Amino acid sequence: MIIKAKNGRQVLLRKLIPADIDKLTYYFQCLGPGTLKRYGPHKFDTQSITEIYQPHGDHTAYIALDMETSEIIAYSVIKKGFLEHDGYRLQSYGIIPDSTTDCTFAPSVADEWQSLGVGNSLFRFLLADLIANGLKRIILWGGVQSDNDKALNYYLKNGFRTLGQFEHNGQNFDMILEII
Ligand SMILES: CC(C)(COP(=O)(O)OP(=O)(O)OC[C@H]1O[C@@H](n2cnc3c(N)ncnc32)[C@H](O)[C@@H]1OP(=O)(O)O)[C@@H](O)C(=O)NCCC(=O)NCCS
Repeated sequence: MIIKAKNGRQVLLRKLIPADIDKLTYYFQCLGPGTLKRYGPHKFDTQSITEIYQPHGDHTAYIALDMETSEIIAYSVIKKGFLEHDGYRLQSYGIIPDSTTDCTFAPSVADEWQSLGVGNSLFRFLLADLIANGLKRIILWGGVQSDNDKALNYYLKNGFRTLGQFEHNGQNFDMILEII
């Protein structure tokens, strides 16, 4: 799918394929400290990414590419099910985790492309795919830092609700989107 970002540039949205791994490594290398402080669902080196995206694994990545440069400018990871170590917190909010219809989500956009509508567009794109695949709930990957206003607005705008808060290097909110 092709969209137009608020800077007027055309952006291609699609799933990650194995041939993208080097480009994705470069994307992570270019993330600035402000974004890295907010974003770290997994290791960012080529070997780790290759292992995560083995065929038939439980992770799917959705990317946005600048059509002028072919560079990756946004990356969102979806893991099927929920994170084992977040399970007890989810249960404390009355959520019964379901490994077949829940998924766990962590979005990112390259620093210079943030606030240009790419995050929203990539979310709508991946949501349609999740619905088509029978997923029913999207849980944030390790929550969101309570002082991350941009991300909090983004989640609320896309229909997520707050489940509760927890302490981990500061205050964080657990959030969820019930798709149906
Ligand atoms: C959070 C993030 C994924 C949002 O993607 P984005 O492309 O920047 O966001 P968009 O331009 O699509 O805007 C989506 C919504 O986010 C909010 N938002 C975006 N920029 C914002 C800003 N500068 N200040 C406050 N809210 C902002 C708005 O609610 C916006 O919706 P609206 O434009 O309809 O009002 C992106 O900013 C990012 O990667 N941030 C750093 C990493 C991170 O925090 N990831 C999440 C970890 S939990």
